[in-house]
Amino acid sequence: MDPYLWEWGSLLLRWLHVVAAMAWIGSSFFFMHLDASLRARQDLPPEVKSAWQVHGGGFYEMRKWAVAPPGMPDHLTWHKWQAYWTWISGALLLAWIYYAQSELYLIDPEVRDLSPLAAAAFGAGGIVLGWLVYDGLCRSPLGRNDAALLAVLFAYVVLVSAGFAALYSGRGALLHTGAVLATIMTGNVFLVIIPNQRKAVAQLLRGETPDPRYGLEGKQRSTHNNYITLPVVFLMLANHYPLTWASQAAIPAVVALTLVAGALVRVFYNLRHAGRGNAWWAWGGAAAAIAAAAFLTIRLGPADPAAEWPTQAAMVPPAVEEIVVGRCAMCHMPAPAWAGLGMPPKGVVLDHPEAIARQAYAIRLHAVLTHAMPPGNITGMTAEERRVLAAWTAGR
Ligand code: HEC
Repeated sequence: MDPYLWEWGSLLLRWLHVVAAMAWIGSSFFFMHLDASLRARQDLPPEVKSAWQVHGGGFYEMRKWAVAPPGMPDHLTWHKWQAYWTWISGALLLAWIYYAQSELYLIDPEVRDLSPLAAAAFGAGGIVLGWLVYDGLCRSPLGRNDAALLAVLFAYVVLVSAGFAALYSGRGALLHTGAVLATIMTGNVFLVIIPNQRKAVAQLLRGETPDPRYGLEGKQRSTHNNYITLPVVFLMLANHYPLTWASQAAIPAVVALTLVAGALVRVFYNLRHAGRGNAWWAWGGAAAAIAAAAFLTIRLGPADPAAEWPTQAAMVPPAVEEIVVGRCAMCHMPAPAWAGLGMPPKGVVLDHPEAIARQAYAIRLHAVLTHAMPPGNITGMTAEERRVLAAWTAGR
């Protein structure tokens, strides 16, 4: 396909995905906040709580009926399409970038030499399986104990990330772990929360009292969504930052620490909005978790061999030029020789000494401190060559 189509397709899908996700996360944070700020009032029946808000030049009084109001309102807004569109656009974006261009983004032969078809099949299958196991755990007897369920789910997600780390490039593993979590969130809305809501409404219309089990199950799933939200966004962004996946071995730990950090930040807000004080310790814990993740990726990332090599002159030595031109320039030149690339990726050109000198820091970041480039080491850069680049880029 025309490279311009690839680029534009990727940009438009990402645009849709980010906007839909903002609308979804925005409304879900809003309702979590609203739920926590509801108060009982003397003049209202016990099952009704209310909260006041001020926004956009007016005051709003929001009321919540624990299960459903005594009669169906004429106008009822369902909050679901933000979630569905986030998932649909995310699935398309995943296929567009990671499955259709898997040699650049997903497959790392040093991890596992998958064919593009197998890589895509494991990804799509893993995401579906990821949901089925989660849903099964929630419906099992374990589901009746919220704390035990959360502990098991935490271990489960870390295990999922280890599975993906054994199959894919680091960025592919983090992104797929994020995709499993995002699918759990959407599945919760699509397959549990909304259907339960519909059942309650149907009972209401028949003049019956809605079964509170529906509401409780929905609340459990939306609490999971609440704790997952921040880690998902982190995992979706992390694939753009190679230092977060510099070490394949550290990926499960990075995922675990991100889950902890994201959940702790939500704990802070959930308590604060419920009027139960400011749990500043939660921020401390989250910061410590992120610092630990950063520390681990640095310690476990590819060893920095620069120490053993003397720093060379500022100019680009012929040996460096030869390596970069040989291993990088087929993609990173004004008219790339690599099929499917219409222009140098991210505008990074590496085909002549001046350009190479300008990119010294980026070369260090992407080919020495991490092995993000060449993608999946597709051009077969050797450890020896990385040592030469390490020596030349030291201190840049
Ligand atoms: C097979 C093609 C290919 C080869 C070979 C290749 N790259 Fe890349 N490079 C890419 C692609 C694709 C991207 C865009 C990645 C993205 O979108 O995150 C990229 C991005 C980059 C970036 C920008 C990263 C950013 O996020 O700003 C740098 C720097 C880079 N490559 C350096 C190198 C170096 C150094 C080499 C040689 C050691 C190299 N590349 C070899 C395809 C290649």
